[in-house]
Amino acid sequence: MKDLFGNALLDYQNGNYTEDIITSTSISDNDILPLPYLFRDYKDMPKLEQRALKLCKGSVLDVGCGTGSHSLQLQKKGFKVKAIDISKGAIKVAKQRGVQTTEVKALLDETETFDTILLLMNGTGIFQELSQVSKYLSHLKSLLKPSGQILIDSSDIKYMYEDEGGGFWMDTNASYYGELDYYLSYKGEKETPIKWLYLDFKTLKLACETVGLKCELVLEGEHYDYLALLIPAEARIS
Ligand SMILES: C[S@@+](CC[C@H](N)C(=O)[O-])C[C@H]1O[C@@H](n2cnc3c(N)ncnc32)[C@H](O)[C@@H]1O
Repeated sequence: MKDLFGNALLDYQNGNYTEDIITSTSISDNDILPLPYLFRDYKDMPKLEQRALKLCKGSVLDVGCGTGSHSLQLQKKGFKVKAIDISKGAIKVAKQRGVQTTEVKALLDETETFDTILLLMNGTGIFQELSQVSKYLSHLKSLLKPSGQILIDSSDIKYMYEDEGGGFWMDTNASYYGELDYYLSYKGEKETPIKWLYLDFKTLKLACETVGLKCELVLEGEHYDYLALLIPAEARIS
């Protein structure tokens, strides 16, 4: 990984903002990811994210924290937060912005336990592909303190396969439709492609059941997106 994402965040943080990140996927053309969005404050966050922050309790792990926008908001409210990300640049920026506990770390390498685990801005993306969902969910469950919870958002991207006549062009022999190849470039340089998973709520809920997690739909967004709350099956949703 060249960490172009991290480089872009560092440029913005250091006052060298000249251009945005360009992304595309195996099923969509170039799109702009505006750098200021990755530095959003509470009022500019989607409703789903605002709700997720309101539901936080106890010690919090912010997984794939990026610039630390959610962690900073939680710290302001007095929460103890640990922010992790695989991007060195992102963690540098999160630190510079004031996130007190940060680490360059992949989710599967985390071992501490928490009352709340947050995965936001398509949190299921980190699972990469459907075949890895159970492994990631089991690991997340193992990081929960008693009465702990996981808050995760994603989207049902079936709409991206819809043609103008309302039909679908999806190849039913292909793998799960939410599994995408994700391409990113910044300042003309291309990042190594990654796999990025969008998971519809029903599939997430089924996967949760196989690993002993209860999955509740908290809120639906305006564009097929949703926020889910996951707790150990033996616990009760309060
Ligand atoms: C879409 S960004 C979201 C950033 C931030 N949560 C936000 O809402 O602005 C996804 C982040 O997850 C990080 N990431 C990807 N895979 C990861 C993994 N296995 N463990 C930890 N972080 C990961 C990326 O480096 C990136 O910063």
